[in-house]
Amino acid sequence: MSGMSGIPRAAAGPLRHLLDVDQLSPAQLEAILVRAGELRDTGLMRADDLRGRRAALLFAEPSTRTRLSFEIAARNLGAETFLVEPRSSSMVKGETLADTVRNFNALGFDLLVLRHHRAGAPYVAARYFDGAVVNAGDGWHAHPTQALLDLLTLRRAFGGEAELRGRKVVIVGDVLHSRVARSNIQTLTRAGVAVWLCGPRGWLQGLEASSVTLTTQLADGLRDADAVMGLRVQRERMHGSAVSADEYVARYQVSEERLQIARPGAFYLHPGPINEGVEVTREVARGPRSLVLEQVRNGVAVRTAVLALLQPAAHARAAQDQATPRAIPSTRDLSSVAR
Ligand code: CP
Repeated sequence: MSGMSGIPRAAAGPLRHLLDVDQLSPAQLEAILVRAGELRDTGLMRADDLRGRRAALLFAEPSTRTRLSFEIAARNLGAETFLVEPRSSSMVKGETLADTVRNFNALGFDLLVLRHHRAGAPYVAARYFDGAVVNAGDGWHAHPTQALLDLLTLRRAFGGEAELRGRKVVIVGDVLHSRVARSNIQTLTRAGVAVWLCGPRGWLQGLEASSVTLTTQLADGLRDADAVMGLRVQRERMHGSAVSADEYVARYQVSEERLQIARPGAFYLHPGPINEGVEVTREVARGPRSLVLEQVRNGVAVRTAVLALLQPAAHARAAQDQATPRAIPSTRDLSSVAR
């Protein structure tokens, strides 16, 4: 089936899981964005790609946008959805993620959408799950569908793929603890964007790379920027941080006044949830530059396109795929999920 896009799904190649954006071929990434764009243009979200399939949404961390948009996407495609909250599951009795996933197999689930506070947890799930696993955000590591929806949002805001190429996008804030930033750096770099990272020195550590420019000075980050991507200041991580909340506001809050040195009409994006008055002023977050709610709308389209590309032929493919162990990111703390 070609879906609604000009790129046949077969040409994009099958997608077994979506654990991070680095596993997507150019054709797969393009197929997701093209189909999601068409879904936004036509408003025709409903299809039968997952008719008869069962999707478990296991959210071991709070979420509003990601959980609801995955649920809407799976239902749009005809799947039955089941929300699993660890607090009311046997995980509170000590059942591991691996055992939980084995039980999902026995219950006949085809799809697992997983958000987890442990980086690498979706990679563990993919080792044990017979169907398709989609990473809905794992620790500080990755948030692939957020990066895809951000890329779609920027492309549409600038008028297309070619128009986005060569633009300057600055990601401001707590980059160190941000899975959104990590996945976005990959997709934006692939899109030919000049990516800048801006924040206190302690929040840029370990992010030096030839593909990005780092600065601790907001003015340098904003100068000539075509778009600014804010990140939530994670108050729970401020304890013992090199910067206090007041100092952060004084040095890094994105305001209309400070945006005067960006390109005229520069856009503002933020994955949410936003601390208005901390990382950004209300005027910017809710003003004409803001693409924040457009990102949320695009989230449903992107997640619908991702789930359609996965096409989990769960149990038929499982035995063959299990023969290939999946590498787990080495730096991740998996002690409580991999038992
Ligand atoms: N952007 C994002 O991941 O938001 P939620 O935590 O509400 O899903």
